[in-house]
This record gives sequence, C-alpha cells and structure tokens, in this order.
Amino acid sequence: MHTFLCFLVLLLLLLTPFLHSQPDRYIKTLRSGHGNEYFEVSYPPPSHQPTPSCSHRILHHSFGNTIDSPPYTTPYTPPTRCPAPWARVVLQFHAKCRGEQYDRIAAIWLSGVELLRTSTAEPTDSGIFWNVRKDVTKYSSLFARSNQNLTMMLENIVNREFTGVYRVTVNLLYYNEFAVRVPFLESFGFNRRSLLDPSQSPRRTGFLDLNGSPADLIIPISDDGKRGFWFKVENEKVLGSRRIRIPRNTYRVVLELYVSFHGNDEFWYSNPPTSYITANGLTTDRGNGAYREVYVTIDGEVVGWEIPLPVVFTGGINPLFWEPIVAIGAFNLPSYDIELTPFLGKILDGKEHVFGIGVVRGISYWLVNANLHLWLDHESSVVHANPVVHHSPGTSIERQEEFHGLDGAFDVDAEKETHVAGWVVTSAGNITTTVSDGFSFKNVIRFQHNGTYKMVKHKFKMKKKVKVIDGKGEPITRLKVKHRYPLRLITSNTPFRDGTYRLETDLSQAHREDYISGGFMKSVNNVQNSKGWMEVKGHSVVSGQASTLQNYTYVDRFNCYSRNVAATNARIVADKSSFVCENFL
Ligand SMILES: *[C@@H]1O[C@H](CO)[C@@H](O)[C@H](O)[C@H]1NC(C)=O
Ligand SMILES: *[C@@H]1O[C@H](CO)[C@@H](O)[C@H](O)[C@H]1NC(C)=O
Ligand SMILES: *[C@@H]1O[C@H](CO)[C@@H](O)[C@H](O)[C@H]1NC(C)=O
Ligand SMILES: *[C@@H]1O[C@H](CO)[C@@H](O)[C@H](O)[C@H]1NC(C)=O
Repeated sequence: MHTFLCFLVLLLLLLTPFLHSQPDRYIKTLRSGHGNEYFEVSYPPPSHQPTPSCSHRILHHSFGNTIDSPPYTTPYTPPTRCPAPWARVVLQFHAKCRGEQYDRIAAIWLSGVELLRTSTAEPTDSGIFWNVRKDVTKYSSLFARSNQNLTMMLENIVNREFTGVYRVTVNLLYYNEFAVRVPFLESFGFNRRSLLDPSQSPRRTGFLDLNGSPADLIIPISDDGKRGFWFKVENEKVLGSRRIRIPRNTYRVVLELYVSFHGNDEFWYSNPPTSYITANGLTTDRGNGAYREVYVTIDGEVVGWEIPLPVVFTGGINPLFWEPIVAIGAFNLPSYDIELTPFLGKILDGKEHVFGIGVVRGISYWLVNANLHLWLDHESSVVHANPVVHHSPGTSIERQEEFHGLDGAFDVDAEKETHVAGWVVTSAGNITTTVSDGFSFKNVIRFQHNGTYKMVKHKFKMKKKVKVIDGKGEPITRLKVKHRYPLRLITSNTPFRDGTYRLETDLSQAHREDYISGGFMKSVNNVQNSKGWMEVKGHSVVSGQASTLQNYTYVDRFNCYSRNVAATNARIVADKSSFVCENFL
C-alpha cells in the first residue's frame, strides 16, 4: 500500500512541469562511467593502512527492495583471538552496486549506538564500488561487549525501473598497541608521548582521563529500532526523545549527534520562504526559508545545538558531479560533539531524564539520533556536580525578503554565543568545565530571469572552546575547535516545450577545520568546485557534462597530506597527492 502510494507520488513528481530553478534530486540514466571505484577524499587514504591484529567481518548483506521493511540485524561478539583492550579500531565499509538506482541514506548501529552515517553512490550499468574507512576507537567499550545486535538500515526500491541492489560488507579492524605504527595513531588524534612513555599514559597516572581516551560507557539517544534507530523529525514541533538514567559516578559526558536531511529539507540551505512559493503558486514544498538548527534538550531545557555541514548526496544538484568523486561528507557524514559535562548536576540523581533532539524550522524530514559518551569514576560510586554558569540566549535571527513574481532576494543572518560552566567533585578532586560556543550564519538566495536563475551563498562559521581546571584552578585540558562550511550554488534553467529542461549547475563547497586539544592539533582544508550542465526529463538526467575539482590538505604535528584531484565526465583527469610537509610551509 505504502509502496504504491510512493509510486503515485513519484509519478506525480515526474509529471510536474519544472520551469522554476530549484535544486533537486536526480537519477542518471545516461550510460556513463569509465572507472568503477568511487571515493570521498579524506585522510588517511586507504593505502595508508597498517596490518591490523585482527580483521573481523561483522556484516555482509544485500539491500534489495528493502523499503518499508525493518532494518537488517545480525549478532555481534568481539573476536576471541583479539581480545580488548585495543589501541585502535577501524570500521571498513565496502559497497558495490550495478544498474540504475537513486542515492540512499544508510546507518549502522551497535546496540542502538550509531557507528556510521553514510549515503550510497548512484550506480552505472557496468557496476561501481566504494570503500569507506572510519576510525571508531571512541566506541571501544561497546565493541568489547559480547552478544549484541548490529543493525543496518538502507531503504531501497528495486523494480523494473530501479534495478540497483546495494551489496555491503563491513569489517572491524582491531589493532593492539604493538601492531600500530605511530604516525598512523597520530593521524587520529592520539598523543605520541602517552603511547611511548607509560608514565605519561592517562590510564596509569590516575583515573582521570580527559585526554581523548574512549568513554567507559555509551548510551544511545535513539528510537526503538523497528524502523532504524534514528528519529524521523518531520516538523519543528516534534522532538525525538528518550528517557535515560546515567550512572551516578559519571564525571564527564559528551553527546555525539548524528544528523542527515532529506525530502523537502534535503537542500534546506537553498529553500526560499514559503511566502514566495505560495504567492507564485509553485508545486514545490521545499520552503520554510534557509535557516535550520538542530538542538538537544534535557528535561525540556536546551543544552546544546549544532548547524550541520550541508552534505550533498550523489543524486543532488547534478549527479554527474559525483562520479567518481563524491561530495564532502557524502560517504562519511560528520557527527557533532556537544560537551554536556557542565550539565551533570541536573542528571546525577540516579533518576531518569528525558533527552530530546529537535530541528528549529525543520520540515520533512530529518533523521537524527545521538550517542551519550560517559566517563566513570572507578574509585567512587557517586560523584557530585553543580552547574555554575548558564548563559544560553536564543539565536538572534534577522530575515529580509523581497520578491516580485518569481524574482526575489532572501537573506538570513543569524548568530549566537553561549557560555556554560559546571563543577564535578570526583575522587580525584574538584574539576570545573567551561564551554564557550559561538557561530555566525549568513545565507543569501537570489532568483532572477523570471525564477530560472538561482544563486545561493551560504556561510557558516563556528568556534568552540572547552576548558577543564582542577580545584586549584590549574588547567587539566583544553580544547579549541573551529569549523567553516561555505557553499555557493548557481543553477540556471532553460525549459523546453516538451517538458524537459536544461540546467546549468555550478557548485563550490568547502570544509575548513582547526582542532587543538591538549598536545594534539590538526588542520583540514577541503575545497571542492563542480561545474556542468545536464538535460533532464522528469527526474532523469538524459545527457550532460560535468567536472569536479578537489583540493584537500591535512596537517597535524607529525603528518602532512595533500591531494589535488579532478574528474571530467566521470573520468579522473588529474590526481596528485603528497605526504611531504615542506609543501605546506
Ligand atoms: C537481537 O535481535 C534478536 C532478533 O531481532 C532479538 O531476538 C534479540 O533479543 C536481540 N538481542 C539483543 C541483545 O538485543
Ligand atoms: C568546586 O570548585 C568550584 C569552582 O572553584 C567551586 O565554586 C565549588 O564550590 C567547588 N565545589 C566543592 C564541593 O568544593
Ligand atoms: C514567468 O514564468 C511564469 C511561470 O513559469 C510564466 O507564466 C510567465 O509568463 C513568465 N513571465 C515572463 C515575463 O516570461
Ligand atoms: C586547487 O589547486 C590548484 C593548484 O594549486 C589550483 O589551480 C586550483 O584552482 C585549486 N582548486 C580549488 C577547487 O581550490
């Protein structure tokens, strides 16, 4: 029934005349594809992988016509030949697909704790494959437990038209300390000193482990799992929520947020206000303006927020851009850490508390859930905590809109600064955590030439500081993170009489990150420019040309990596990488 409805909706979509320029989701039907390995540029590259102590296949499944079915579930137990503790754990995801298919969103959870949010590449006739590698050491305490369920959700439609079945294999690679080369570790934020000099190891100098070791316990803030563990948030009034009781000896808590946006909010950063859509009688529901904010509550009080990186899936804007290089984050969507330690005083009473996740101005639909990472005081059964500062004003948002018919100008400016602090008295003394967060957001949308030309300029900058001091006011640790996600999109539409149209597409995107924590620093600069055109019938791309250029640099205290890669019409035309640090000076 539901599938039938989906089909009707799809048919209606296909029949809707498309005169107006609005980014959309497409399927490529032209016979393209030269190489068959797709990839997302990242560090470390797959070739830089030392031999693990053990490799353990944890999932192997084909996702055919899985729409409206429960997720795939399989038992997990750690390999006995490779017992915990591990210095490092890496998740290796492999997928292949052949035929015609839309991009799909997918996630993997262990006991409801999300390990990976990913999306699929749109396949070709000759077949494609790709690999994703993710450091998952932070989930080590979970991987050490036996008799759990591993779950993967990937809703796909297979019928006469859409033939692509996604075949997925996931391995966990476990590394004991001796198997790991030091540069590899550092690339993931591990401190060389603490590894090589046992006296420097946080585990051995005391229980207080604020230097990046994995949490002792991870509790999911997630749905029941019948339709995947994510909450489907369809409007701003509905909050995904769960009652959670946390151990009374928790001295640190970090919430890790996973989020992706779909349907009418897949391109939320390019949505005009609803007033523009209504006034022009447009059939699209991609409205509600271009501002979204994901927020987290405890017992109804907002304790954290995040504005996500605009990730473009492989059917988005122009699918010809994303072969074989996919957009930033498409295969490994970022998760977002929110330090909640200052709020411990609210939740250490041994009672259940309601953790909620919502989306400010969100429309259908967002898939959100979170993992609570908890560090426990092994020397005492109860610790005491109290918040001291809570300065968390609402976001200040300014909007300007002006339109005449289909031409118009829409601006949104937003900013926020929050400051929270709290102390927690543990068996190692009184620790105070101060968290300062701030962002600035600017979004500009212009429609010209009777709505056939659209330009979007999106700028987002955030900085976050966490400072932890002991009872004497001496610093224990400090963390500073800065992110910038600029995006510029231009689409220009030439409609033809037969209902098909030609779309010129131009997209530039970047992710810049600076991260300093304790003795570790890293800096990532990831820039991607795509240009091209396509001829579209319904949602199918029937012809076109496209090129994507990407410059990526990664620098930390010991490693440097750069890759400049370019693809034109699905063929890699330039690819240079280097590990030499001098290039960066
Ligand atoms: C794992 O899943 C199976 C089947 O869905 C269920 O019977 C079992 O109780 C689950 N185990 C755990 C530990 O949740
Ligand atoms: C812990 O330290 C904070 C900040 O120095 C102080 O305000 C608080 O009273 C201390 N707590 C206890 C129980 O001593
Ligand atoms: C602008 O577009 C609308 C809807 O596509 C159309 O009805 C109208 O005639 C166009 N106006 C001009 C001046 O081209
Ligand atoms: C990438 O770097 C090359 C060489 O430095 C430069 O010519 C090109 O414009 C850069 N491309 C992007 C997308 O920044």
